[in-house]
Amino acid sequence: MNLCRGKSQTSIPDTFKAISRLLIKESRLEPLLKNVAERLKNARLYDGVFIWTAEKADIQETAWGTSTGPLYAQGLFMTLPQPACIRGVATHGTPLTLIRDEPTCSSCPVCPICPGWASLVIPLLFKGEFYGILFVTLPSEVIAVNTEVAFLVEVGENIAACLNRMNQEALHRTTATALLKRSLELEYFHNFARITEQPDTDLETILQRGVDLIPASMDRPDLAAAALVLNDTHQRFTTPNFTRDNPMVENPIFVDGKAVGVLTVCYPSPAGQGPELTFLKEEEKLLGSISLRMGKIIERKRGRIALERSEQRFRDLTNNAVTGIAILQDQQIVFQNPEYTKIFGPLSHSPTLFLDAGVHPDDKKKTRLFHETITRYDFTTLCVDFRIASLLSQDGTPKITSVFCRAAMTEFREKPAVLLNVMDMTKPRELENLLRIQDKMTSLGRVAAGIAHEIRNPLSGINIYLKSLEKYALERNAETEGKIISKIQSASNRIESVIKRVMDFSKPGELKPISVDVNKPVQNAIDLAAVTLRKSGVKIETDLGTALPLCRLDSPMIEQVMLNLITNAAEAMKTLAPGTKTIAITTQCLDRQQVVIQVEDSGPGISQIHRERIFDPFYTTKNSSGIGLSICQRIINDHKGTLNLHKSRLGGAGFMIQIPVKQQEFKPAKGV
Ligand SMILES: Nc1ncnc2c1ncn2[C@@H]1O[C@H](COP(=O)(O)OP(=O)(O)OP(=O)(O)O)[C@@H](O)[C@H]1O
Ligand SMILES: [Mg+2]
Repeated sequence: MNLCRGKSQTSIPDTFKAISRLLIKESRLEPLLKNVAERLKNARLYDGVFIWTAEKADIQETAWGTSTGPLYAQGLFMTLPQPACIRGVATHGTPLTLIRDEPTCSSCPVCPICPGWASLVIPLLFKGEFYGILFVTLPSEVIAVNTEVAFLVEVGENIAACLNRMNQEALHRTTATALLKRSLELEYFHNFARITEQPDTDLETILQRGVDLIPASMDRPDLAAAALVLNDTHQRFTTPNFTRDNPMVENPIFVDGKAVGVLTVCYPSPAGQGPELTFLKEEEKLLGSISLRMGKIIERKRGRIALERSEQRFRDLTNNAVTGIAILQDQQIVFQNPEYTKIFGPLSHSPTLFLDAGVHPDDKKKTRLFHETITRYDFTTLCVDFRIASLLSQDGTPKITSVFCRAAMTEFREKPAVLLNVMDMTKPRELENLLRIQDKMTSLGRVAAGIAHEIRNPLSGINIYLKSLEKYALERNAETEGKIISKIQSASNRIESVIKRVMDFSKPGELKPISVDVNKPVQNAIDLAAVTLRKSGVKIETDLGTALPLCRLDSPMIEQVMLNLITNAAEAMKTLAPGTKTIAITTQCLDRQQVVIQVEDSGPGISQIHRERIFDPFYTTKNSSGIGLSICQRIINDHKGTLNLHKSRLGGAGFMIQIPVKQQEFKPAKGV
């Protein structure tokens, strides 16, 4: 049926073909709707055709219409809400025929105003999904023609299929753009990470490189420019082409929660030239992430620099400290200063100094407890005093080091740690000990003086009477009585000699030093002891240095010291098998500074427990007075020298006397 007698109508199949071609070729929404509506209207001579599209993921709500008759439906789809009948088409997906004569629609503006005309509302459906509406106005008698309605329904389906395709393509395009942006973002962060992870790269280089990398991640790398300005340090990092221009994206840089600068990216172009550019949403997002990352890197680097500086300050401070300082963390010594190394040896990454076998047996219990507490971090400050016996002095002799250690909780490299403060108390303790000994000696002196006073006078009376008794016995040839008297005399002499020793000890006589070769008193003592030693089966070996410098010595006093040391050695070897008892005596000059006398024996030596106490007055392991060594030490100290325990090359005990040579007394001789 021809709708308009004046014009020729294109057949349904031809119209269908033409519409289909349009739908395949066109990929832009608006030209598609316009062309389809016009072609449909003109080919089939409809009064009006309107196409309205519902909003989809990538299709916005839009409409296109063309009409030769009354414009009753123009703008209908632009204003919402639409009449209920049309919304029903969208909801139910079934075509709707609108004829004015029907009473329900008489007041509705959608209904045709011309009698004899009707409207067909067809839903644009594809796979059950609603894409919009095709609205056609045509003579009412045509509505009754099934083929025309079926044709329009099919056109509607094709339009929906086309809209679906456009939507899918748009989705693909969006996904592809997003993927591209994401890959640019990943590339940026990958390259940036490579720079930041280089350990020695400074912050300035990192930031400059970070800025240089930005344009490559933008849509137009050839035109993009970037700048980072840090206001707090007045630093500026830019790409060479940077000048502030629009379009521009600016992001603040936050460090420790404070805005310290701005990252700006723009497309600078001379006025009137260059393309009109904008930043994509994804690019703005990326720049936001870059700003955040830069802030974090500045924060981290500045933190590290501050930490390094504070560690350096700590090192400077501790390296010059006079006490030993160490840091214990996770059961390991992680830092120690030179003074600490001097006391405990090189860094061993082990806190075993408190558990070490070298700790004096009497102190082990407390050092273990100390160690347990500090490694549990269960304290604020804690102190311990202990002695270490395992450490060797430079000459290889065992050395006792008295240590005072204070532990305090601290933080090191942002983790809990223990700060150990250690003082070598050996010297102060030695002085303390010396004072204690001197104190003891003073009291002993007072007692001895009293005893001497009370005993000496009656004793000299006893001696005088004994002399008379001896004479009397001799005159009478009383042999037995004479023997008894001489025994009493010898016992009395012993009492006198003990009193004299105690007196000497308590009231040391003034030193009478003269310039003398140290070998002289040494040799005298050896000669005096020789007979007794031979009788006890002790072999004496001597190696006395030649051309020793003269020293200012009180010769008899040094002789007394030597006799004491020789007697001690001989007594220590009393129970040894004959042929194994040896005493070696050597003298020598060291560095032209001091003369050294050594007395070594092959006896049992002195155990760790006794070592510390043998110089104490009255300390003895024998049935004797225990003042021999304390007298020796005092005499040597009076000569400004030292008397110490030393290793013995013969396996027993060894004593070393060092007496300074006064420079004016040093007379260089051959071989010295
Ligand atoms: N050569 C040695 N070998 C082993 N032990 C020694 C030696 N010399 C000293 N001692 C130890 O040192 C202690 C103290 O010695 P010191 O000479 O002071 O006193 P004493 O010998 O016991 O008594 P005194 O000397 O007054 O008669 C001794 O009792 C002994 O245990
Ligand atoms: Mg002795």
